[in-house]
Amino acid sequence: MDSDKICRKFTEFFERKGHVIVPSDSLLPTDRSVLLTTAGMQQFKPYFSDADKAQQVLCCTRAASIQKCFRTSDLDEVGDDTHLTFFEMLGNFSFGDYFKEGAIKFAWEFLTEEMKVSNEKMHFSVFEGDKEVPFDKESVEAWKKIGITEDKIKKFGRGDNFWGPTGEEGPCGPTAEIYVNDVEVWNLVFNEYYMDRKMKLTKLKQQGVDTGMGLERLAMVMQGKKSIFETDLFEPIMKKIKELEKEKKVEERAMRVIADHAKGSVFLINDGIRPSNVEQGYILRRIMRRVIRYAKLLELRSDYFDELVKVVVKIYKKRYPELEKNEKEIIAVVDEEKAKFEKSLSNGLRQFEKLSKDNEISGADAFLLYQSYGFPLEITKDLAQEKCVKIDEKAFEAEVKKHQKASRAGVEKKFGGAGGFGERVARQHTATHLLHSALRQVLGDHVQQAGSDLTPERLRFDFTHPKKLTDEEKQRVEAIVNDRIKEAIPVTVEKMKYKDAVKAGALAFFKEKYPEEVSVYSVGHFSKEICAGPHVKNTSEIGGFKIKKEEASAAGVRRIKAVVG
Ligand code: SER
Repeated sequence: MDSDKICRKFTEFFERKGHVIVPSDSLLPTDRSVLLTTAGMQQFKPYFSDADKAQQVLCCTRAASIQKCFRTSDLDEVGDDTHLTFFEMLGNFSFGDYFKEGAIKFAWEFLTEEMKVSNEKMHFSVFEGDKEVPFDKESVEAWKKIGITEDKIKKFGRGDNFWGPTGEEGPCGPTAEIYVNDVEVWNLVFNEYYMDRKMKLTKLKQQGVDTGMGLERLAMVMQGKKSIFETDLFEPIMKKIKELEKEKKVEERAMRVIADHAKGSVFLINDGIRPSNVEQGYILRRIMRRVIRYAKLLELRSDYFDELVKVVVKIYKKRYPELEKNEKEIIAVVDEEKAKFEKSLSNGLRQFEKLSKDNEISGADAFLLYQSYGFPLEITKDLAQEKCVKIDEKAFEAEVKKHQKASRAGVEKKFGGAGGFGERVARQHTATHLLHSALRQVLGDHVQQAGSDLTPERLRFDFTHPKKLTDEEKQRVEAIVNDRIKEAIPVTVEKMKYKDAVKAGALAFFKEKYPEEVSVYSVGHFSKEICAGPHVKNTSEIGGFKIKKEEASAAGVRRIKAVVG
């Protein structure tokens, strides 16, 4: 059974069972306390505490989706038979509706009747119980009612059979899991608790279900394959890599990493993420650079990245038609990153050879490769593994922290101090906050700050957006900023914990550089950003705002130059 058919069967089945089918959310989640979408339940998080809300928004207390997910937690395992960074998750959800028995019955019926998976291939697991959460007897009873014998039901603890929350707090609960041929295929989470930020559990007032089944793993079962890389979701990519290999080195693990990371790159770029040194952008950069370095190792034909993008689009365009529309843009982004990294890659590799002479890469060495040659830690780790050299990862992390602290102090010095440079650019600085919010209002929430530079003469603001702005868009943005200036809104600042600031909806795109306590600057309800300041006290001080130029800065990144006064 091909994967498109599996998806169709899944949504049709749950639709028949009274679920509303909800499209996949973006990989860039609305909930800013997490960097990327890692599970199907994320877009439904509020409904697990509030079924009425689900009823209002979805007109239903049952939902099902096929969610695009990206997990960095499995990065090191990519290359084996069952782990990926990007994958799709088939899930059904109940918000105060059915619970354990209902969820177990649906899962069983779908697998045995729709997918025709034989009973013999399966085994199950449930939560064994601990001091806080009791043994999940109900799930065992539900399996037994279906006819499963107790010897097929294993019991595990928190590490295996308890899930959530995503982010810092949220719904969570014990899980029942289904294994096919010893591979975990479906995770049924029974959300009966809420975990707060101190990790304290309280009972939710309603019970909920959140299930997740990896499409690639199910496809592996349905297509009788030994690895996810042999399924129809990967086979064309693997074939393409072999075609692009001049010397036929056939390094299976390297090929798998390339296939997974190239696919992940396509989907991250498609959802508006661009390579950078922070947050989501750095996740993208890390996987792209790993593709580039493995491609060099395998001596792939030089246009390999474009070719890989094209195969990925071809596999998925039926279910994600926007991929085809964005193909050119995606190719432009990968080409640019490739050109950038290839410049330093050969020198970096030579440097690695030198550094690894005493069979150990110290934290400082790894940091040098990261800082001066743009090597993400994964690449240095891959190289170390290939050369059987030890690497001190902890010391590397410590080096990064030390450096961030130093650069933060530098930023504060640059912008701080009465009468200093900072004071002179305060008007430009507040104007960039207004511009940022105005751009998001006019163009959409995909707009993210990608950089800015202020001088007393002008401001420069880079942001992610795929297209040139139309004259009308520019005029609207300019008018919104000028309206806020005319309204003479006070600019307020408050100190708060970074986590609370993000929760309050403050824009924060440079998370890694922030201390635990941050300053949040607000312009009424119009703009709220974590920022070191300084800013004007009232928007009227800006005087006026004029866009001088709008141009491309990098692939998928636009640049606005503007003046104030
Ligand atoms: N949230 C659970 C998971 O991600 C089930 O969907 O595994």
